[in-house]
Amino acid sequence: MSAPDRLRRSIVIGCGGYLPARIVANAELESTMDTSDAWISERTGILQRHIAADGEKTSDLAIAASRSALAHAGVEAGEVDLIVLATTTPDETFPATAVRVQAALGCPGSIAFDVQAVCSGFVYALAIADNFLRVGQARTALVIGAETFSRILDWNDRGTAVLFGDGAGAVVLKAVDRVEGEASPRGILSTHLHADGRHHDALFADGGPSSTPGRVGVVRMNGREVFRHAVEKLSGVVEEALAANGFSPSDIDWLVPHQANRRIIDGMARKLGLAPERVVVTVDRHANTSAASIPLALWEATKSDRIAPGDIVLLEAIGGGLTWGACVIRW
Ligand code: UT7
Repeated sequence: MSAPDRLRRSIVIGCGGYLPARIVANAELESTMDTSDAWISERTGILQRHIAADGEKTSDLAIAASRSALAHAGVEAGEVDLIVLATTTPDETFPATAVRVQAALGCPGSIAFDVQAVCSGFVYALAIADNFLRVGQARTALVIGAETFSRILDWNDRGTAVLFGDGAGAVVLKAVDRVEGEASPRGILSTHLHADGRHHDALFADGGPSSTPGRVGVVRMNGREVFRHAVEKLSGVVEEALAANGFSPSDIDWLVPHQANRRIIDGMARKLGLAPERVVVTVDRHANTSAASIPLALWEATKSDRIAPGDIVLLEAIGGGLTWGACVIRW
């Protein structure tokens, strides 16, 4: 939907994040598998990743990130009436990890559920929350991406084990009504979501409650195929997002992409003609944290005062499914 059609908007009023204390550098992986710091950093841009401690759950990460986002927004937990948590690594098969977060924060009675779109999860969750707010079904939303992806890695598969990390990020959204005559209203301007299940086998976990009872499975990926789809599908959805708002690439102030591979991020920045300093990059330090990568990047960018009110921010992501999407925000 294009910007002028929106009577009520969701504005981002706070960002937060949490990273587990333990940092695993590439050099540490060299001692446990047939890989090298040079291969990992040259092919992906990853230098290190955070790994959750034994017993540290996705909900623990999500709760910490949520508290930091609520504090940044100056919002009491009791004001939150919607929690949408994107994760591929929930604490349990059921119920949703979002209800653990809700109970810990203290906002009983609010809507709370999980969204599963793997690395596109945060963009999906943001779009869902935005729709709830725009139709008036909620006023204050906590949108979280949280993962303990290290739990579903095959640590004997060097093709995937070196790529992922754990972490959580969150944003607080508030519904605001459009002011008559307002020229450039802040808020989420448009969201664009896609999926193509024909590419399921490119990236999946080989287990789960219905297919292999008792076994959650581990990540299986055809990296080259996912890379090819990433370049093509992210370009397409970014063009779609720009066109929906009547924007050209030069209108974008900040690209905050999903952080899977530095080469994919740099390719998109080149395509948009964006200077490197307008692209928020965390993949070097966080690796791929799946649904957490974009909110963690937003948290970093807001902590360092890089994104200013009124800036046009473009989010984009692709992940297992395949799923992919983009979101344009006037900050
Ligand atoms: O977040 C969801 C979205 N995911 C992505 O966007 C991931 C997209 N894919 C990628 O980022 C890249 O495809 C990878 C980083 C996963 C792989 O990079 P690549 O340049 O596509 O490498 P490749 O898979 O073609 O493998 C090249 C070589 C192979 O050896 P041979 O067959 O050429 O002898 C691999 O066995 O690199 C080998 N290799 C490794 N070597 C050292 C694969 N993993 C490793 C490793 N260390 N960790």
